[in-house]
Amino acid sequence: STMELRDGTQGGTRPVKHFYDPSNPDIRRNPYPIYEHIRTREPVHYNPILQAWMVFGYEQAQAMLKNSNASSRRAELLAKKVPAAVRDKAKTFTQTANDMLLFLDPPEHRRKRHLTARPFSMRMVRRLEPTIRDMVDKALKRIADQGRFDMVHDLALPLPLGVIGAMLGVPESDRHTLKTFSEAMSLMVNHPKPSAEMVVQGSEGMEALFAYFRDLIAERRRQPQSDLISEWIKVEEQGDLLSAQEVLVNGCLLLFAGHETTTNLLGTGLYNLLRHGEQLQRLREEPNLIESAVEEMLRFESPVQMVTRIARADFVASGKQINRGDPIFVVLGSANRDRRHFNDPERFDITRRDSRHLAFGYGEHFCLGSGLARLEAKIVFEQLLEFFPSLSLAADQMEWKPDIMNRGLLSLPIAFETH
Ligand code: HEM
Repeated sequence: STMELRDGTQGGTRPVKHFYDPSNPDIRRNPYPIYEHIRTREPVHYNPILQAWMVFGYEQAQAMLKNSNASSRRAELLAKKVPAAVRDKAKTFTQTANDMLLFLDPPEHRRKRHLTARPFSMRMVRRLEPTIRDMVDKALKRIADQGRFDMVHDLALPLPLGVIGAMLGVPESDRHTLKTFSEAMSLMVNHPKPSAEMVVQGSEGMEALFAYFRDLIAERRRQPQSDLISEWIKVEEQGDLLSAQEVLVNGCLLLFAGHETTTNLLGTGLYNLLRHGEQLQRLREEPNLIESAVEEMLRFESPVQMVTRIARADFVASGKQINRGDPIFVVLGSANRDRRHFNDPERFDITRRDSRHLAFGYGEHFCLGSGLARLEAKIVFEQLLEFFPSLSLAADQMEWKPDIMNRGLLSLPIAFETH
């Protein structure tokens, strides 16, 4: 279907011939052509299938994420996804979403973020570096021993969970329990239309996580250690402590926000290095390009493709009338390929300078874990290239996750040689 739509910001009237259809498998494999098609015609666009506004342009994405009418209080959108039959079972989920940093607006957001972020400093992250190096080293040795390597299963999935566990102060022996619960929770939260079964399992997972963190918090109250849970318990600002409930919710939030995102960065990051062999070669020759290489991985295949907001009032954006209650999807993965902002954006170029991509978001909710995610990726790719003198893709066709919000590979089989 062809629709005539006026494009106020870029001049001229050009028809949007193709819509973004989240159920189309071609789009899931490669969403970038459709992003570009719509972005160059109508950077703020109403999608009739999602029944939501989608923001495709870089400038427009920044503006939307700075717009106080675009609210993060979107827990009710999450609640709406839950099938009526199991709404009761999902109470923990629908109620606590309201307490998470990600789903709050200022001024409440600012207070909580400040308290949460203080112990989550670069100092804390750097203290984790030897632990991360050790975890990666052990994983690589295991891979060499078993003679088979799947980047997603052997490294990208377990590492971020181990790191968050270590940071929070979860003992190693309990981390597999965390994994089961957090996966069930993420599936429920990220799925556009979760089944009753997903909701029941996800809610049970979330409740189990809560019970686990409650015990851990009680223990750290009695005997503080040098972990994040102990630090949060100590945090005090103008006599204003983070409540026990907030510490609990923060623990779950880190698992939710920091696990799958980092997994996807590590998986697609390696995939893109291997697909662009000359870039991989360049990185082997100039290891000090590692930091800009990680930034390019984040820009080129942004793990968080979209963040959502909800209009809290009627307002106009890029000439479009947005009504109170309308859902808004800010498509970071499209903004990061906008040729009005990036030179030759379809090129994967690890030497790119001054990228200022939006992969970690923008404004009030800018990712709290960006320093940690960058450090993990740096260590993984440094050690991977050093450990394996030769790496290549061991399959022709990769399978992408059936998720429009998070872009990641289901598996990534790798052929390798050791020294
Ligand atoms: C927020 C991306 C890793 C913790 C965000 C947001 C994005 C993002 C786009 C903003 C969401 C919004 O505006 O609605 C990523 C990516 C990661 C990553 C791409 C990995 C490559 C992590 C890690 C942690 C973390 C490792 C912690 C262990 C958080 C938290 C927030 C957040 C707590 C909420 C901040 C707030 O609402 O004020 N992240 N993230 N993230 N991220 Fe990350």
